[in-house]
Amino acid sequence: MFSYRHAFHAGNHADVLKHLTWVAVLRYLGQKDTALHIVDTHAGAGIYRLDQEQARTSAESDNGILRLHAAAQNTTSQGSVIPEAVADYLALVEGFNTGQALRVYPGSPWISQTLLRPQDRLKLFEVHPTDARVLERQVEELGKGRQIEVLRRNGFEGLKALLPPPSRRAAVLIDPSYELKTDYPAVLECLEDALRRFPTGTYAVWYPVIGRAEAHALPRKLKTLSTRLQRPWLQTELNVGLQPTEGTAALIAQGKHQVGLRASGMFLINPPYTLAAQLREALPWVLEALREPRGAEWSVTQEGG
Ligand SMILES: C[S@@+](CC[C@H](N)C(=O)[O-])C[C@H]1O[C@@H](n2cnc3c(N)ncnc32)[C@H](O)[C@@H]1O
Repeated sequence: MFSYRHAFHAGNHADVLKHLTWVAVLRYLGQKDTALHIVDTHAGAGIYRLDQEQARTSAESDNGILRLHAAAQNTTSQGSVIPEAVADYLALVEGFNTGQALRVYPGSPWISQTLLRPQDRLKLFEVHPTDARVLERQVEELGKGRQIEVLRRNGFEGLKALLPPPSRRAAVLIDPSYELKTDYPAVLECLEDALRRFPTGTYAVWYPVIGRAEAHALPRKLKTLSTRLQRPWLQTELNVGLQPTEGTAALIAQGKHQVGLRASGMFLINPPYTLAAQLREALPWVLEALREPRGAEWSVTQEGG
């Protein structure tokens, strides 16, 4: 039923925005000792090889993490400073690699598990049979026992049973592939239910910025929901101005739709109060590293908090 495999897209510019933001969120929430319950409703396979066939098919990481990494090396060699949130995210990614080249890229489950403290818990939902099997095997190899759990269930539904968490502290990442049109309303329904069960959790939703009415409406509807429930929110978008080339047009035709993805966003409810300033410092630098000649831009807007 599902054809989306994150291995084809790992480390692209959308992952850069999502994971840079997610690292900053978890770092902030990790400052308080009380246990944090982290939930990834759409986990993917967990960790990816950037130098193998799936990732090289469309080579999306070339315009994402690999460019960012190269720009950071240049900046450092010139004695200049990299924004803190970018440096933190890059150091985490580099931690999975040996030597100068990046061959391994951690997806959100691996980013979360790296920042997990002994008192924290991580729940990972994944429905794709192959990716769920890979994820389960890799989680088992980590040997963290019951601290991390993989659930082969619909994450939108599964989240309900986890809220509110016993420690009353949670960070939830909602990162569907939007392969199904129903993912857009499902995000809203899931969040409305989650906020009713646990209004003070930190929720982060990734969304594509594409020419589709549902995609266009999603951040607007998320704002309306947050405002109605009187929760602070933050929206950030990154448009690298990527233009589909002849080669990528063929891949888009085969349904590997993220190849042509020019922009994406993150919508956060109850964001850390430090996040907007961190992103405003980080994103101009990220954009300079990833931008194509035309149409690139970034934004951060927020309300409340
Ligand atoms: C964009 S990928 C996740 C990437 C991952 N969060 C990361 O940042 O590394 C979306 C994943 O969600 C899975 N998926 C799709 N619908 C789902 C659902 N209802 N519940 C759980 N997983 C789902 C897909 O199989 C796919 O692996």
